[in-house]
Amino acid sequence: DWNAEHIVEDLIDGVRAQVGDGRVLLAISGGVDSSTLGLLLARAVGEKLTAVFIDHGLLRLGEREQVEAALLPLGVNLITVDARAEFMGALTGVSDPEQKRKIIGREFIRAFEREARIHGPFDYLAQGTLYPDVIESAGGLHSEKSGAANIKSHHNVGGLPDDLAFKLVEPFRTLFKDEVREIARLLGLPEHIRMRHPFPGPGLAIRVIGAITEEKLDILRRVDDIFISGLREFGLYDGCSQALAVLTPIQSVGVMGDERTYSYTAALRAVTTDDFMTAEWARLPYEFLATMSNRIVNHVHEINRVVYDITGKPPATIEWE
Ligand code: XMP
Repeated sequence: DWNAEHIVEDLIDGVRAQVGDGRVLLAISGGVDSSTLGLLLARAVGEKLTAVFIDHGLLRLGEREQVEAALLPLGVNLITVDARAEFMGALTGVSDPEQKRKIIGREFIRAFEREARIHGPFDYLAQGTLYPDVIESAGGLHSEKSGAANIKSHHNVGGLPDDLAFKLVEPFRTLFKDEVREIARLLGLPEHIRMRHPFPGPGLAIRVIGAITEEKLDILRRVDDIFISGLREFGLYDGCSQALAVLTPIQSVGVMGDERTYSYTAALRAVTTDDFMTAEWARLPYEFLATMSNRIVNHVHEINRVVYDITGKPPATIEWE
């Protein structure tokens, strides 16, 4: 019998027993796992926790503010780092998807290590590793998830310089996602973060096809916000496992008033899946798709065409890059 309240108390006791008076560092990605861990650690060790949220400029509309609004009032010692210029500088002109991922991973570690030195020294690094992550990496089937908040997958923790030789704290190692969501509810994490779809560590950089620019990120952010808000408004969000918008590099001819336009095509994608290894495209109602298309072309003037992705995984992937 799984009793969430007892589990929370046990996890808090476990963290206190492990870290004692030690100082704990945590990377917050804005997802449910690291946010919930932030709340748990704040309860367990208070000011001994430093949670670092790196704004790499690849987040969705209002995301940084939402994370701050969720965690600061609940006592999380949260530091937001504006690293947007660094990431943009490193990504300029880069169009290969794997190259983008590598650069983002590298810049993330660089920024995180810098913050660790500024606010340190720390004794522990906390990570929101879940049971399925542990199984996958033990089985050697897949590497551990490469989300922005997963420091360990970016380098060997034991191989860090002496002043950053952390011991790991992973209180969620025995838990499944649903259990973390239940814990999140007890700890007061707002619903929109608690039930949020997964969002990749490289963020919107892999949803702007080809080289990213500030302008393209800004266009995509507005399209994504209309689509995701629309899914929530129509009660369709929870029925999808993941939904996203893509800014394609295709420009096509359109017409607005008496003028011909030559603007970008946005693609919408929504999938249902149990494990993200295979997925079906979500059969969203035509009326909903029509409303989304109208809203997007009316509000985002850089877009004159909207398409809906009707491909399963395989052969497609969920993301376009
Ligand atoms: P694909 O596109 O491979 O995505 O079908 C499967 C799931 O993984 C997420 N994804 C990533 N997550 N870093 C991440 O943290 C990445 O580089 C990355 N690439 C894909 C994707 O959003 C989906 O949930």
